[in-house]
Amino acid sequence: RGSGYEAWLGYPRQQFGGSTASDLEYYGALYIVEENETLQAAAQEYRRGMASMLGIAVANAAEPGGACVAIGTFQGGNERIQNVFDEQTIRAVGPEGYAIRKSRENHCIAVGASSPIGVLYGVFHLLRLAKTSTGNEAFDEVVNPANKLRMINHWDNFDGSIERGYAGHSFFYKHNRFLDNPQRLRDYARMMSSVGINAIAVNNVNVHEQETLFISPAYLPDISNIADIFRVYGIRLYLSVNFASPLQGGELGTADPLDPEVRSWWRGKAAGIYAAIPDFGGFVVKADSENRPGPFTYGRDHADGANMLAEALEPFGGLVIWRCFVYNCKQDWRDRKTDRARAAYDHFKPLDGRFHTNVILQIKNGPMDFQVREPVSPLFGALQQTNQVIEFQIAQEYTGQQRHVCYLVPQWKEVLEFNTYAKGEEDAPVKHVVDGSIWNNRYSGVAAVSNVGDDLNWTGHLLAQANLYGYGRLAWNPELSAECIAEEWARLTFGSDPAVLDTVTRILLDSWSIYESYTAPLGVGWMINPDHHYGPNVDGYEYSPWGTYHFADNRGMGVDRTVRSGTGYSAQYMGPNAERYESLEDCPDELLLFFHHVPYTHVLHSGKTVIQHIYDTHFEGAERAAELLASWQTLQGRMEEGLYLQVEERLLEQAEHAKEWRDKINTYFYRKSGIEDQQQRTIY
Ligand code: GCU
Repeated sequence: RGSGYEAWLGYPRQQFGGSTASDLEYYGALYIVEENETLQAAAQEYRRGMASMLGIAVANAAEPGGACVAIGTFQGGNERIQNVFDEQTIRAVGPEGYAIRKSRENHCIAVGASSPIGVLYGVFHLLRLAKTSTGNEAFDEVVNPANKLRMINHWDNFDGSIERGYAGHSFFYKHNRFLDNPQRLRDYARMMSSVGINAIAVNNVNVHEQETLFISPAYLPDISNIADIFRVYGIRLYLSVNFASPLQGGELGTADPLDPEVRSWWRGKAAGIYAAIPDFGGFVVKADSENRPGPFTYGRDHADGANMLAEALEPFGGLVIWRCFVYNCKQDWRDRKTDRARAAYDHFKPLDGRFHTNVILQIKNGPMDFQVREPVSPLFGALQQTNQVIEFQIAQEYTGQQRHVCYLVPQWKEVLEFNTYAKGEEDAPVKHVVDGSIWNNRYSGVAAVSNVGDDLNWTGHLLAQANLYGYGRLAWNPELSAECIAEEWARLTFGSDPAVLDTVTRILLDSWSIYESYTAPLGVGWMINPDHHYGPNVDGYEYSPWGTYHFADNRGMGVDRTVRSGTGYSAQYMGPNAERYESLEDCPDELLLFFHHVPYTHVLHSGKTVIQHIYDTHFEGAERAAELLASWQTLQGRMEEGLYLQVEERLLEQAEHAKEWRDKINTYFYRKSGIEDQQQRTIY
């Protein structure tokens, strides 16, 4: 305790509020008849949770008819389960869902599901409920996940480094070897399963030389060991693959997706993988993206490339998750017509309908790259005959690198609620595009870049655990509010002291807006140090080939993406969205500089000029960052000291670093614009 290793599964001691703590009589005994590994894992979780929360050693419910918690599948021969759940309830429970009901008649709280993993999810849910319980709940619900695929992408490299990792090194690999640490992997799988994650890709989308061999007999036994651990927790293992794999070691002379030899090479690989891992999930592919190989080399398009892999995996039920992060990363900054924001749509919209049924396109939430603020990718809504998943970044590459607190669930919520207008008048929010309900997709869901590493607390910043937790919860149920998730996480992590809950929840909920205010004004983005992406550098990417510009001069700033006078990007949206972004008057302030180039004296909806907005938000942002520290400090003595201290240390760094941001950004724009701060504060 105190290190953060147990994360939200530590289950701090719980006091029941009411005097009629009748749930306790059930909690003390567990009734399970099935031997399956996943059910045994569920039983173990249950015992562990109850011991920790209530200090009770759970008995095996040996007495017939005695009060208990009964867990099992509907078909598993558990008579308590059979007695509690009727046909109608059983029909309502999907393949990964569960039903939970308290039955006084049958003297039990029952958790039933159609599959073992459903039972495990149900037990995690029961533990969450018990944590927030008053002691006498009317448990009765059927719960199914909204999204079929709920995925985590690791950007771990075989050498042990993690691309954009901010929490130490990989716990899968080190020095091009597989680490022998099954306990850590099991604890990781437990954590992920507890929030409903069912798919994990274990290696970086940039697949280097050694990792290219992960699909070969040399490494499959080790990969298979990881899959064995994941399987118990309902998680399928995926691998990122190198599109040019057939070329490595000179096996073939080409990786052309239409070449029969290449196709048969991949079919052979697929057969080998499934022989080792029968429930292998499939491939994640970054092709023709940031110097990675892809079908363009052979004059083929992305449907040709993805379908070739899909054909190989199809006989085994495997999926191809093909990323849409395709753009020109060798752009000339002098060229004002090329717009990176347009790229994904320009490449993939014309291919809509051409992908095989086991291909899923993975689309980043925004058109650029996980900035603090960017609009929603216009591909959502535009692709109408293609399976798709949205890609978020839990790793805080551009949002403070887990040294600053930035709770991202509110940002993800905004994206998921965004109405694409793909169905005209009818509501067509992104959440219903990605859950597959709008176009009836065979596969759909969410994916995200992981923020974990081998740091003892998994995420570097303890508060960054809330993003990992929140991602899973939101992927399971996008209707949950950011507040509710924050509170739930805080309660599971720190216990139920109201002062702690209130303060932690407030810190989390304010943090994105605070980070945005001292870093990236009005949707501009990219004012960061090149390569590592930490800290302010306004012109860091201004004259680079990456397509990431703010175009600030002495008169104004912003990127003109209008149809009227700019790159025409705004026309990739539908209906009112296209109109709103095109219009200088209607464009929301927070995205103004993403869509328009304006003078510093342009007046925002807020009534302030752009330049005054920059000054004000940066002064306020740095002050608010210092307040985060001050409010955390009111919690000293109210939690495990180890937890308290590690967060305090990070918040101290954040408060200092926010001043650096404030001064560099303000000074830069003061010097460019020559316009005084109305409040005459210190600008250098
Ligand atoms: C960003 C990130 C890269 C990563 C890429 C991707 O550009 O900085 O490290 O490889 O996204 O998503 O593929």
